Amino acid sequence: MKVLIIGGGGREHAIAVAMKKSGRVDALYCVPGNAGIAEIAECEPSIGVMEFDRIVAYAREKQVDLVFVAPDDPLAGGLVDRLEEAGLRAFGPRKNAAILEGSKAFSKDLMKKHHIPTAAYETFTEPEKALEYLEHARMPIVLKADGLALGKGVLICNTLEEAKAGVREIMQEKHFGSAGDALVVEEFLTGREVSVLAFVDGRTVRPMTSAQDHKRARDGDEGPNTGGMGNFSPSPFYTEEVDAYCREHIYQPTVDAMAAEGREFKGVIFFGLMLTAQGPKVLEYNARFGDPEAQVVLCRMKNDLLDVVDACIDGQLDKVELEFEDNAAVCVVLASEGYPVSYQKGFEITGLERFQGKEDYYCFHAGSRFDEQGRIVTNGGRVLGVTAKGATLKEARAKAYEAAEWVSFANRYMRHDIGKAIDEA
Ligand code: AMP
Ligand code: GLY
Repeated sequence: MKVLIIGGGGREHAIAVAMKKSGRVDALYCVPGNAGIAEIAECEPSIGVMEFDRIVAYAREKQVDLVFVAPDDPLAGGLVDRLEEAGLRAFGPRKNAAILEGSKAFSKDLMKKHHIPTAAYETFTEPEKALEYLEHARMPIVLKADGLALGKGVLICNTLEEAKAGVREIMQEKHFGSAGDALVVEEFLTGREVSVLAFVDGRTVRPMTSAQDHKRARDGDEGPNTGGMGNFSPSPFYTEEVDAYCREHIYQPTVDAMAAEGREFKGVIFFGLMLTAQGPKVLEYNARFGDPEAQVVLCRMKNDLLDVVDACIDGQLDKVELEFEDNAAVCVVLASEGYPVSYQKGFEITGLERFQGKEDYYCFHAGSRFDEQGRIVTNGGRVLGVTAKGATLKEARAKAYEAAEWVSFANRYMRHDIGKAIDEA
């Protein structure tokens, strides 16, 4: 089989590595890809993920059997629909199902209607109404821009003043663009955060092993929210009891709700959960693999990824049982100093060869490219996701931080406490 992966980050590198392991994949392509993915797949850096016509033409030219659409923007924009119209086989939700991530107002209303546990909320399209509501609301409170905002459209406000400023930023100054046309104002939840990704074939849902992200830029959960500075899998707080509750009250009801709404979901649903004193509640849905969740989850999966993807597309997921290794993985993101606000690119990355032939160590490229001299240089805020597996989280963590020192580039920045709270819990 010939497989084309859409995307060019660490998640797509992890997907490519998993696909490469499949006995049924003969050729791997990636658009746009990056310098790491280029080691195992033919990449086409000149095509962007939103250039649907060019993607269709490329898929036809390469005669691919499957297109795996990984990032949120092309999913929300309907790339899967376009590929299917062109007669190509695609993995990922269609546009009418990707709205689960594309609109927070939609997902909140869905959860309310179908009794799926989540934080209490109100949706506003007029800033005046939102401001009026906030006058009488309990602080802290959470403001969420309705649309896609690179994981940054969420503000946690401790005071009324902060909340009012947040409404202005999101709805009036449009810091997140049209994502802020509508605003969800949500109850602040406390507890442990856990992410669970699940394969879905429209009817059946198969949750993968759990993971925990570190979204803030700096050690100790300080600094601005990012796309994710590192994570680990599994979460020790995600017990069998929690899993059983989530399957019954969250995962299956979500898939059933989407089907009942005429928005059959095929692909991966990312459940962002808060384990509160009242039980697990949904913080957010994503309609795709998380980044860097894919990095720590896929490297622990025993199944052939292509088999599972095929089962999702063909509605045969009930015949698949997922299996994960009985170990742990930790991913430490090496970013460019200044991420997520402003940062420089184009610095040479050295030491990558040290990962070669080392079992249980992975260097997933998030933002890298080849320069004119053929050197690998930094090309993004998140540059590499150094990942390691170990028998325990502690071991995986020690190995990931050891390996993080193998590579260097100018302005390299990382958090030093990925998974640390767990060692100490
Ligand atoms: P989201 O993009 O919805 O996952 O939000 C980003 C982060 O904001 C989450 O990972 C949580 O840490 C935090 N967050 C979102 N919603 C809430 C909430 N209702 N209560 C507390 N924290 C939240
Ligand atoms: N790491 C969080 C996300 O992919 O949205």
